[in-house]
Amino acid sequence: MPRLAYVSGRIMPLADARVHIEDRGHQFADAVYEVCAVLNGRLFDWPQHVARLTRNLSALGIPAPLAPAALDAQARRLVAANRATEALLYIQVSRGAGPRNHVIAPKLRPTLTMTVRPFDFAGRKTLQAKGIAVASVNDQRWGRCDIKTVGLLANVLAKAAAKAEQAAEAWLVDEAEVVAEGGSTNAWLVEHCGLVTPPLSARILPGVMRATVLRLAQGAGIAVAERHFTLTDAHAADEAFVTSTTMPVVGVVKLDGRTIGGGVPGAVTQRLGALL
Ligand code: PDD
Repeated sequence: MPRLAYVSGRIMPLADARVHIEDRGHQFADAVYEVCAVLNGRLFDWPQHVARLTRNLSALGIPAPLAPAALDAQARRLVAANRATEALLYIQVSRGAGPRNHVIAPKLRPTLTMTVRPFDFAGRKTLQAKGIAVASVNDQRWGRCDIKTVGLLANVLAKAAAKAEQAAEAWLVDEAEVVAEGGSTNAWLVEHCGLVTPPLSARILPGVMRATVLRLAQGAGIAVAERHFTLTDAHAADEAFVTSTTMPVVGVVKLDGRTIGGGVPGAVTQRLGALL
């Protein structure tokens, strides 16, 4: 697979792809992004990713660099140029480049970059079979976690803290030990064969996979409650799992060193994975 990137209208070798040093994405994390799965060469849940990107740009007052139809065409062009079959498409839009100043200059041109990298979705099956350990970490993020910005320092540090505990994901909690979501995933429990996941709010990202799994569960007659849960609830749950584009329904078998459920991905988690 060739490694080609898209930078503001041009497709070029990844190694040559550059943005300006005074791009506001680089200087201020003044940028939003999307990560979309490419499966069998096709963009998975693409309209949902475009809708979230559009919503996030508008929430931050960043003009859309391309209309949705043009973005669609350029994304497909890049995926095709990379001859990508199983891959991740990464899209980033910053407010643009300008002399470094917190105050937003008028008439900035947003910077649109896209990359495609191979991703072993088939290999996720091994992860789905084994499950992962998670560790709880204090949520130190800002107040608009519903906007998918590249300001991911708190997420990065949380995942590093989890890794130090031999955990693959961090569950971000407040002072009352209420779980918001993972460092890069949404969080779920299974209680009495029904799903529990925190409701949408400014504290969590409205995951595309979260919505897809909610839809699948409803279609399969699995009960779903969108409500908050604590670490204590999680320890007592029958099963737990996480969802994201890159971790589509992966069981949580350990939380803070303690086994959850039977210590292996549970029946409901496996059923959802299979449905997906
Ligand atoms: N992460 N919550 C957070 C904080 C995330 O960063 C992500 C996605 C999700 C799940 O969203 P989705 O189902 O739309 O992938 C939830 C992406 C994959 C990332 O940053 O790599």
